Amino acid sequence: MWRRVRMPSSDSSNVSSTLTIREIFGPGGLLERCHEGYENRPSQLEMAELVEQAFEKKQHLIVEAGTGTGKTLAYLVPAIRSGHGVVISTATKSLQEQLFEKDIPFLQRYFAPGLKVAVMKGRGNFLCRQKLHQIGQQPVLKGIDEIDWLQRITRWERETETGDRAELDFLPDDAELWARLDARSETCSGQKCPDFGRCFITWMHQRAREADLVIVNHHLFFADLAIRQDDFGAILPEYSAVIFDEAHEIEDVSSNYFGRRISTYR
Ligand SMILES: Nc1ncnc2c1ncn2[C@@H]1O[C@H](COP(=O)(O)OP(=O)(O)OP(=O)(O)O)[C@@H](O)[C@H]1O
Ligand code: SF4
Ligand SMILES: [Mg+2]
Repeated sequence: MWRRVRMPSSDSSNVSSTLTIREIFGPGGLLERCHEGYENRPSQLEMAELVEQAFEKKQHLIVEAGTGTGKTLAYLVPAIRSGHGVVISTATKSLQEQLFEKDIPFLQRYFAPGLKVAVMKGRGNFLCRQKLHQIGQQPVLKGIDEIDWLQRITRWERETETGDRAELDFLPDDAELWARLDARSETCSGQKCPDFGRCFITWMHQRAREADLVIVNHHLFFADLAIRQDDFGAILPEYSAVIFDEAHEIEDVSSNYFGRRISTYR
């Protein structure tokens, strides 16, 4: 899927751009020199070459390759070399964690030191500073747990850079308290909010605009696409290409946003 081209904020993406894909993934290549357990994997090399060609020729590409091929590096390296803003859309949290904890740090270390990567998530994942402020003034809390959580969240709000609830490992997934604190749009006053400039949502958008790679899940990607169709604005910044990993999930997700349901009664 191709859109207007947005150049990345830095030339970080050009590291190793003088090499061919084969000189990176093939035997004796750059990957072998920096990856501890390197193996020559011909299908990985083939995939990386195809992804690079797809970027160059602005073509769609679908790849199916067995588990353990090393598909992640096979698309990340060409994406970085493309020099354009690229969105990477995944289905699962575990893949996002793999990207953030493993593959991207690896690439930043050896291939693209200045690479900027941002993650975007739905608004419900982030703290609303206004709601926290209001709840702090007249707390109606249920039980000792909520009192403790609110104190901890209040301390955390002063130091967190993301406001992402994933940082709150003490907070149970189903904690009701969070529903009263999150940054969902229904309760957000937007630019009229006194905290707008330092709102975690504003910060997330800023980081994403400056990033070379933006990581999202399929839900957010298709929610954005649906909004753009209606000319309502956008969630994601402009991008030139999107890569779907775990793409077998996109049929279900995209049907939620673009499908029509019919039944006998209807
Ligand atoms: N050429 C290589 N030699 C050795 N290890 C590699 C090579 N390329 C990638 N790896 C490592 O192999 C592991 C699997 O890679 P990756 O997660 O990209 O596989 P995958 O093809 O996406 O598999 P899956 O379908 O299970 O998601 C990772 O730990 C990665 O660092
Ligand atoms: S801008 Fe919206 S989400 Fe952000 S702090 Fe203000 S009300 Fe909350
Ligand atoms: Mg994979």
